[in-house]
Amino acid sequence: MRTQAALYEEIDLELSWSEAELPERERTKHVHRLHPYLGKYVPQLVEAFLRRYARPGGLVWDPFAGSGTTLVEANAFGAPAAGCDVSAFNCLLAGVKTAEYHGDALLDDVVALAGPWEAEEREPPSPYLADWYAPRALAELLAFRDRIEATTYQDLWRVVLSRAARSARLARHFDLDFPEEPVRGEYACHKHGRVCRPVDEAGKFLRRYVRDSVQRVVEFAALRRSAEATVLHGDARALDPPEPVDLVMTSPPYPGLIDYHEQHVYAFELLRLERRDADEIGRGVAGYCEGVAAALARARAALRPGGRIVVVVNDRRRLYEGILADAGLRLEERLLRHVNRRTGRRRGEYFEEVLVAVPARRRPKALS
Ligand SMILES: C[S@@+](CC[C@H](N)C(=O)[O-])C[C@H]1O[C@@H](n2cnc3c(N)ncnc32)[C@H](O)[C@@H]1O
Repeated sequence: MRTQAALYEEIDLELSWSEAELPERERTKHVHRLHPYLGKYVPQLVEAFLRRYARPGGLVWDPFAGSGTTLVEANAFGAPAAGCDVSAFNCLLAGVKTAEYHGDALLDDVVALAGPWEAEEREPPSPYLADWYAPRALAELLAFRDRIEATTYQDLWRVVLSRAARSARLARHFDLDFPEEPVRGEYACHKHGRVCRPVDEAGKFLRRYVRDSVQRVVEFAALRRSAEATVLHGDARALDPPEPVDLVMTSPPYPGLIDYHEQHVYAFELLRLERRDADEIGRGVAGYCEGVAAALARARAALRPGGRIVVVVNDRRRLYEGILADAGLRLEERLLRHVNRRTGRRRGEYFEEVLVAVPARRRPKALS
């Protein structure tokens, strides 16, 4: 076991915040908490690297943009940013977080969406929705979905609808991240320490999340700059970033950890989004290294002289030395960061590496 002194020598203290220094409220500030997303990094980490390697006006690229943390922080920093993701729901979320909103139009939308939402039962549009929702909850979600058509900020309300749909599933309260099967009767709830029953309505969540989301986008509206943020729905292995890029800031998926389509299955079903599961990197080890190397090689090709590629990853399989070499990159710095996460199923010690890379002289194998 390492002593605390030995551990502190290895980790980058500037990037390792304690719970008191960086409480949950700050890690999930304004739009970062518009919708749950497993596998995002903290905005303060992006802020730190923007300060080190970006400049206002210089382009930032994130090939694995996820919920849009890089894009949001780049915008607040004053740098234009672009990102891509293979999941249509993640693209929707990143787009909503970086969009511009105006008070009057927001208010008109809220009026157009206001409940009550008719609780008349409707034929479930898909087997998933039939299985995972009580009839009243589904009727309310579908009635809210119908009203979105008449609003200005349709994608924002689609995210609100998805968040309410996540909460209104027939899932156990302590099992919202990975529910395996719908629950229909009472159950012993570890989270609340009592017997709970599954929710039978969605209206209370819709009301709560409309209010919360309006507050969050208004809060970010006061911080955001005019810098452009572009979200591309696509496969990072095949997509060329706009150039020249000053900073690539990204956290790629890792083999076998998170299924990025499945975690938002309720949104894909309700919003009828296109699924591209087969193109998702990290569903297995096969092809993983080649895939990430191909995405990073394209990023490298778009980098301006002096630009950096910053990759955040917990590389327990030691894959990244080879990946960076195949992408034609040279490791400039390897930083270790202590991740403090005290709540939920992912309790415990956790370390993340931050790899800072620059182009190597030789041609990337991934592009040859
Ligand atoms: C670790 S997450 C990124 C999280 C992000 N840094 C954030 O804070 O929200 C990795 C992302 O890579 C995406 N991804 C997986 N395969 C991809 C591919 N072939 N092209 C583009 N994105 C892909 C996943 O959908 C997921 O959103």
